[in-house]
Amino acid sequence: MNMKKMVPLIAANWKLNKTLEEAVDAASMMKIMLSDVKDKEILICPPFIALAQVYNVIKGSNIMLGAQDVFWEEKGAFTGEVSPMMLKDVGCSYVIIGHSERREYFKETNEAVNKKVRLCIADELNAILCVGESFEQRQKKVHKDFVEKELEEGLARVKREDMKHITIAYEPIWAISSGDPNHKPATAKDAQEMHAFIRKTLANMFDDKTADSVRILYGGSMKPDNVKELMAKKDINGGLVGGASLEPESFARIVKGF
Ligand code: 13P
Repeated sequence: MNMKKMVPLIAANWKLNKTLEEAVDAASMMKIMLSDVKDKEILICPPFIALAQVYNVIKGSNIMLGAQDVFWEEKGAFTGEVSPMMLKDVGCSYVIIGHSERREYFKETNEAVNKKVRLCIADELNAILCVGESFEQRQKKVHKDFVEKELEEGLARVKREDMKHITIAYEPIWAISSGDPNHKPATAKDAQEMHAFIRKTLANMFDDKTADSVRILYGGSMKPDNVKELMAKKDINGGLVGGASLEPESFARIVKGF
């Protein structure tokens, strides 16, 4: 495949962390620390309640805003849900869809993920579709089949020309830190192997040109000390960072560390 050089994207997923004040403070610090970064795209994804105020902080800077989830209907009687248009209205240009924590704790299926992806495309909100296998699946050597199915079902009925709104995040569940110090990041070699497989799957589903234009982020214990090795790999086009994105200093070291 003929890879064209892509601008890397480093995204912070704050998950269920930070009060409004803490979120605004962290965003303000990141804005200052990262103001000189020109060759990378930067995204922060705070909890819903902080989106509007964080946007006020980062508006006009080189940091973009994203949400951690979205619903698949535009409006109506869906208590507790938020639509792509509502997210755009408060300044979001991205949303994370199908994170493994949502799949595990909220039983999100590939079908639900696909409905969310398709409404985001229709509303021109960029979607970061998360895929990734469990430790058991990797041990049984079914990890590629599992990720292929997540891609095929998650992107069902998505057209080639709509893929400009899609970013993929490969997050092996066993590598996500979850506050557990025993979790280990994937080796750069293992991550690259899966990223190449994901790109090949996209090429089969769409075509080579489309597959080469999609950014594939790595997520799972990305830290200041391993970002360089991961980002040196051909098919790794950025990162989706959890734990190490909570502290502005460590997030800035990741963004500037490659
Ligand atoms: P950690 O960086 O804490 O492993 O989390 C990764 C992740 O789930 C990002 O979405």
